[in-house]
Amino acid sequence: MRPHLLQTVPMNAPALEAALDAAYQVHRLHQAPDGPAFLAEVGPQVRALVTTGARGVGTSILEALPGLELIAIRGVGTDGVDLAYAHARGIAVTTTPDVLTEDVADLALALLLATARRVCVGDAFVRAGLWPTRDLPLATRVSGKRAGIYGLGRIGHAIARRALGFGMPVAYTGRRAQEGVPYPFVPDLAELARDSDVLFLAASGSPENRNVVDAQVLDALGPRGILVNVARGSLVDEAALVEALTAGRLGGAGLDAFQDEPRVPEALLALPNVVLQPHQGSATAETRLDMGNLVLANLEAHFAGRPLPNGF
Ligand code: 8YV
Repeated sequence: MRPHLLQTVPMNAPALEAALDAAYQVHRLHQAPDGPAFLAEVGPQVRALVTTGARGVGTSILEALPGLELIAIRGVGTDGVDLAYAHARGIAVTTTPDVLTEDVADLALALLLATARRVCVGDAFVRAGLWPTRDLPLATRVSGKRAGIYGLGRIGHAIARRALGFGMPVAYTGRRAQEGVPYPFVPDLAELARDSDVLFLAASGSPENRNVVDAQVLDALGPRGILVNVARGSLVDEAALVEALTAGRLGGAGLDAFQDEPRVPEALLALPNVVLQPHQGSATAETRLDMGNLVLANLEAHFAGRPLPNGF
């Protein structure tokens, strides 16, 4: 008997969907026209659930799955899952670390370069046939500028390595100073922002991080500073961000994460100094395949009674 599994999102590769079907009785919530009715029908049999970091899974869904043993997150963020609730019910949680690190860091640098060098503005300008008519205003240099990183975990480190390649001095902040790290630790986020030309956000979407990037931090980054967010929208006070960008108190922003995805504040759409992405940090074919394979490995270990490769 194949264990029953609830999937909330597509796996991005036919081979991964086929591997799931071969080993499990898969119920695809994302394809169900009536989610609650579907859950009421299949929920009692479900033993494992696959979701994403960004989406997580609401407690109302978990309540419809009384026999759930494992939440396999395709991603590294656990902020979309009530871990205390899961653990109280004895539900294991796994993630897919490491395999997405380089892609997310690549996108962080892409967002910085696109914002500072106005890549999207230039692209739209050429496509609109405007090149013969006038010059674009000058952009902003990236090389050598000071990089501040909030959250020096795996992704933060990968961003730092790339920043060094651009000749950027790196400093960081986070919960605590890390031993053996070559970059200066700045205890206060606003102070780090004041001393940075670009502030990269690579910290978790934990409750303590909610709105840590507020008006004070944005003002410290200043009218020439650039904010890059490849973490979670919850880290940024979005109203304050819109206000700072609109008033010219912040130089620009490259954003892959938003408070209420997939909704993006209307005011950002009109700003030329902002580059927007629909949460694409790990969205390459190669990485999504690696992430999917890690999800499969965690599921397999669970049902074989082996230690979870990426459990909490
Ligand atoms: C994923 C993410 O794209 O890892 C995370 O937590 O936010 C993203 O890297 C998301 O989980 C979709 O799989």
